Order: sequence, then C-alpha cells, then structure tokens
Amino acid sequence: MAYPEYVKLVEVGPRDGLQNEKGDVPLAVKIELIERLVAAGVPHIEAGSFVSPRWVPQMADSAAVMAGISRRPGTLYSVLTPNLKGFEAAVAAGADEVLIFGSASESFSQRNINCSIAESLERFAPVAEAAHAAGIRLRGSISCSLGCPYEGEVAPAAVARVAERFLALGCAEIDVADTIGVGTAGQVARVMAAVGEVVPIARVAGHFHDTYGQSLANIVAAMQEGVAIFHASVAGLGGCPYARGATGNVASEDVLYLLHGMGIRTGIDLDAMADTGRWISERLGRTNDSRAGRALLARREAA
Ligand code: HMG
Ligand code: MG
Repeated sequence: MAYPEYVKLVEVGPRDGLQNEKGDVPLAVKIELIERLVAAGVPHIEAGSFVSPRWVPQMADSAAVMAGISRRPGTLYSVLTPNLKGFEAAVAAGADEVLIFGSASESFSQRNINCSIAESLERFAPVAEAAHAAGIRLRGSISCSLGCPYEGEVAPAAVARVAERFLALGCAEIDVADTIGVGTAGQVARVMAAVGEVVPIARVAGHFHDTYGQSLANIVAAMQEGVAIFHASVAGLGGCPYARGATGNVASEDVLYLLHGMGIRTGIDLDAMADTGRWISERLGRTNDSRAGRALLARREAA
C-alpha cells in the first residue's frame, strides 16, 4: 500500500507525558505546554485526564488546565474518561473528545482500571451513550496491543476483539497502543492487519511507547498497512504508572522528522516542536529524549 500524503499526529505529551512525572508540575507549565504545541500546528491534543486523583495524582488539575487554555478553533482537545464520573467532568470542562481506555490483556486491565476487560466494556457503554447524546467525539484506546508487562505476548485476535467492541460503541478512532514499547515491525503489521479486518483502517491509530527504540520502524510498518494517525509526545515525555520500566511515547520531533522526510504532510512546524521540546525538558529538569529535536537544536546553535 502507498504511504499516506497526510498523517494526523495526535500530541499526547500533556497527558501521557506528564501523567508519569513524579514532581509537582505547575498548572502554568501544563497550560503553556498545550498552548505551545497548538501554536506549532498540532491538530489534535490530549490535554488531561478525568480519572481518580488517587490513581494518577499528576492529572488531578485537568479541569483547571482545560479552563486555563485558549481554544484554537479546528484543534481537537481530548481527555481521558474511564467512567461516567470522568465523563461528566469532561463535559463540564468543554472537552471535544473523550477517550475510553481498555486493554487487550486482563492483568493490565485490572492494574490500570481495576476491572476485567468485560467489565470495562460494560462501564464504557454508558460513557459512549452519553458522549453520543452530547455530540462529543468518542475514541477508544487498547493498551498492551503488542505485549503486556504481566502476561507477555498478546494475540492480535485479542486486540481485534476489543477493537470490534469499540467500533460497536461508536468510537471515531481506535488506538492500538504499545504501552510498554516492546513491539517490532512485523508484529505491528500483523496486529494492524488483524484490526483492519474489523475496523476501517482510516479510524485506526498507532500509539507507540519507545522503550525498545522501535517506534519509528513501527510507524512505517503501520503506514504500510494503511494507518495514517499516530500519537507522539514532545521530547518523548512520559511512561506509564502501571507499566514499570516503560518509557515515554515516541518523540513528536522524531516522528515529524521521519514523516516530513518522506514527503508526508502533518501541518506541524518541526522547529517550533523542537523548541517546545527543549522548553518543557528544561522546565521539568529532565533530558530531552528526542534525538531529532536535540540534533536540530544543536545544528541551529552551530549555524
Ligand atoms: P476504582 O477504585 O475501582 O473506582 O477505580 P471506584 O468507582 O470504586 O471509585 C473509587 C474512588 O475514585 C471514589 O472516591 C470515586 O469517587 C473516585 P472515594 O469515594 O473513594 O473518595 N473516582 C473518580 N474520581 C475522579 N474522576 C473519576 C473517578 N472515578 C472514580 N473519573 C478507576 C477505577 C477507573 C476510577 C481508577 O482505576 C482510575 O482512575 N484509573 C485511571 C488509571 C489511569 O489514568 N491510567 C493512565 C492512563 S491510561 C494510559 O496511560 C494508557 C494509554 O496511554 C495507552 C497506552 O499507552 O497503553 C491511554
Ligand atoms: Mg500511553
């Protein structure tokens, strides 16, 4: 299959990136991060989570984040909602899209959302219904699509089963997530092919954590299966609180460098993304995990 002409990059740094930061990230930094990313041209952004603050304390101020940002027309602001309580908070905050997040592995489902896969789908049904009634876009994420920290290998058929259920719930997009970043290109091709049999491939997104450094290859493999939506996190921020050792998402700068180099449009300014990567790394006192970001900044300084 030919590569897409346009790829939608969903920026997940403000949510997936920051949720794992141990120290207190000031509200003003969370807000400025979103503003900078949107100014760089990001079309779709995860701005926060309406989850239990006891489970993910860093996201406890998501309502304040949503209230503090200026909303650019045409940009989709998305938040995580595991249940109706979260959904109600998301509506009050004016979210454009809510994300229900399940898993292809039973153990991870228990650890992350404290219920089985079947129970999670039951819990998501009223959220989906409420989202449709309120005209809010619904998205579904499938964790552990390429491996589970507790169970090891995960069968593509298990991923496809959850994808099918998410489609039936009316998800506009379904994310195939490599939570712990263990998948390799051949495996990604198989999982995307299996999901593509039950869900229109235009609705499928790749969400790759970069623990083993495979994300860029995995993105190319997924594009060969027709996938044209990918998630990334500026400066490679993040990790997963319920998947020890997992690193952040693939860095947005690295994905943009790959895609633009292949002649694929994203509408995002790579230089502005690299500046934002440096800015947030400095604010958080952490290293900038984007190889392309660091190289671009070094080249600019040398010029
Ligand atoms: P539970 O303890 O089974 O829920 O947790 P509960 O209904 O029994 O409620 C327990 C307490 O939580 C109650 O408070 C509720 O009010 C409160 P208490 O009465 O004890 O004071 N509560 C809430 N508070 C705020 N917002 C809510 C909410 N719901 C209940 N929405 C629950 C179940 C799902 C709530 C919990 O397990 C949870 O919040 N999990 C979220 C975990 C999470 O956010 N993980 C990270 C995001 S997913 C991810 O990163 C993966 C992804 O990136 C893809 C990938 O890479 O794989 C998307
Ligand atoms: Mg993730």
